Amino acid sequence: MLDRLQRPLRDLRISVTDRCNLRCPYCMPREVFGEGFRFLAREELLSFEEITRVVTVMAASGVTKIRLTGGEPLLRRDLERLVEMLARVDGVSDLALTTNGLLLARNAARLRDAGLDRVTVSLDALDPAALRSMSDSPVSPERILEGIEAAGDAGLAPVKVNMVVRRGRNDHSVLDMAARFRHRPEIIRFIEFMDVGSTNGWHAAEVVPAGEILSTIEARWPLQPLAPAREGEVATRYRYRDGGGEIGLIHSVSAPFCGSCTRARLSADGQLFTCLFAHGGHDLRGVLRGGGGDLELERRLSEIWEARSDRYSAERSGESDPQPAPKVEMSYIGG
Ligand code: GTP
Ligand code: 5AD
Ligand code: SF4
Ligand code: SF4
Repeated sequence: MLDRLQRPLRDLRISVTDRCNLRCPYCMPREVFGEGFRFLAREELLSFEEITRVVTVMAASGVTKIRLTGGEPLLRRDLERLVEMLARVDGVSDLALTTNGLLLARNAARLRDAGLDRVTVSLDALDPAALRSMSDSPVSPERILEGIEAAGDAGLAPVKVNMVVRRGRNDHSVLDMAARFRHRPEIIRFIEFMDVGSTNGWHAAEVVPAGEILSTIEARWPLQPLAPAREGEVATRYRYRDGGGEIGLIHSVSAPFCGSCTRARLSADGQLFTCLFAHGGHDLRGVLRGGGGDLELERRLSEIWEARSDRYSAERSGESDPQPAPKVEMSYIGG
């Protein structure tokens, strides 16, 4: 199954909830996602059985990588039951989770036992004031570090750490973060602030280009490029020449990677999106709940994928937005 640009479908990112216990302004600004915001209701969410059905059909069509996201996925009750169900699907060889880490310490061992392979934890600064500004919440970096530690101890490895870099807010923390994860088993990735959604007030001036982040780190600890760990990987990898370990840079603004994009995204209410920057999704919940069989689901999926021509980041080219209409929000689609 190939899309119109000859890209296969290999990865599925599944949002299991649109809720989060943080309010990072680059993702869920409090002014929008405040008291009055209407989150999805329980009955709107796909059940674990429905999610597993979608994954089973997709795995038969070539999907091998599954990533659970949110909002914050650990807010979904009994998540380990879903992990257990997905770990048993034939063809799924990589089952991962992206989390903000707040609830990770108490869940890591249970998730590993259920069959989760690895986790990625978002941590935007070590300095409490910068972290407060990045998350708009009184969160302590220590608690997230404990989550990272617990995940490593449980064997959810290699644990990756995501740092979204915003000029003027946390870019002064780049070297501290690099230093913290040198000579450690975790892999830190520096992410360019992206213009996802329509509410985060994105401005090009706040993007610190990956090249600049790289120069900052390289000036302190010389680096050497590494080949991609697998085709279509979003992070460009480097290793410290002194043996300090590996880092990654995710440069979707300054150097888009749409040409090798093999990802689809499933929202918590069962809409399938063929691009992170899409304006709308394709309703799979209707097919699941309308009594259609797996064959119908499979047909719908190939129709959607074969019509796909998205390459938003490449078209945008870091300048102005070519699609001013409202885009889907990061917290709904899981990044
Ligand atoms: P690995 O399997 O470990 O490589 O995971 P990952 O890096 O794909 O997942 P993660 O959830 O850690 O995402 C890291 C960053 O890359 C986030 O900011 C995502 O929003 C971004 N990202 C992931 N996939 C895409 C994509 O297809 N397009 C764009 N533009 N950004 C993406
Ligand atoms: N730009 C870049 N990365 C983002 N993330 C959330 N919003 C943005 C954005 N606007 C990151 C989160 C998490 C990952 C899934 O995406 O911090 O690590
Ligand atoms: Fe929550 Fe992650 Fe979005 Fe921050 S970036 S608000 S932690 S989902
Ligand atoms: Fe894929 Fe869209 Fe991201 Fe390009 S912008 S890499 S097509 S999700």
